[in-house]
Amino acid sequence: MDFKIIHIKETDSTNHWLKEHGEGNMVVVADYQTAGRGCGSNSWESERGRNLTFSMLIHPENILAKEQFRITEVVSVAMCRMLQSYIYNKVEIKWPNDIYVGDKKICGILIENRLQGTEIKDSIIGIGLNVNQKEFKSDAPNPVSLYQLTGQETDLEEMLMAFLDCFDSELKSKTTCFTYREMLFRRGKDSLYRSKTTCFTARLTDVLPDGRLLLVDQEGRECTYAFKEIQFII
Ligand code: BTN
Repeated sequence: MDFKIIHIKETDSTNHWLKEHGEGNMVVVADYQTAGRGCGSNSWESERGRNLTFSMLIHPENILAKEQFRITEVVSVAMCRMLQSYIYNKVEIKWPNDIYVGDKKICGILIENRLQGTEIKDSIIGIGLNVNQKEFKSDAPNPVSLYQLTGQETDLEEMLMAFLDCFDSELKSKTTCFTYREMLFRRGKDSLYRSKTTCFTARLTDVLPDGRLLLVDQEGRECTYAFKEIQFII
């Protein structure tokens, strides 16, 4: 997929910028976001010029609205593959689309799909990847940067290009949905979770095609959860 790539020094949020100015297949990269958004009402901390904060606008013609979780799979797997080419540590996907190294978050993804009937009109994929930041000051839970893992600075432009290559490959791949599940953080392990009512131990066994998480509790009962219905206790 060919992208028009635009670099800007500062904007409120690259997702927001693309909503206002995006056309065709486009990537907008910002040195700094004054109001970078995380999931829900969270903000996204990123020191000026030290990390990759960018958004992509795509028009996924062969993905129906009911299959929109495929976009999450493609982006998450592409990000893991790209990062895995930079570090030896295992890179995993914390459902649905946080990218983790060990128990720490290196990348957050915010996908906003605009639907038209049964089709996806377009999709804005916002990515915050912690690359060269040396310390994190906000109360963001367990962040980590590539620099903190390797002790080396990495060229941001080169990483962006490497990610776009991986994204293109995963978009064409027929096995991304399997790879996504293989890359899941805590897959097959008994771990602690918090639902709206209680904390409990369960084993993460699968993610359904619509993106719901499948857990099996200690009594062997299967339960499915939509995003926000369950939290990982880290
Ligand atoms: C999360 O909460 O994990 C999602 C974080 C997404 C942050 C990125 S940075 C680039 C893009 N612009 C935004 O305002 N948010 C996303």
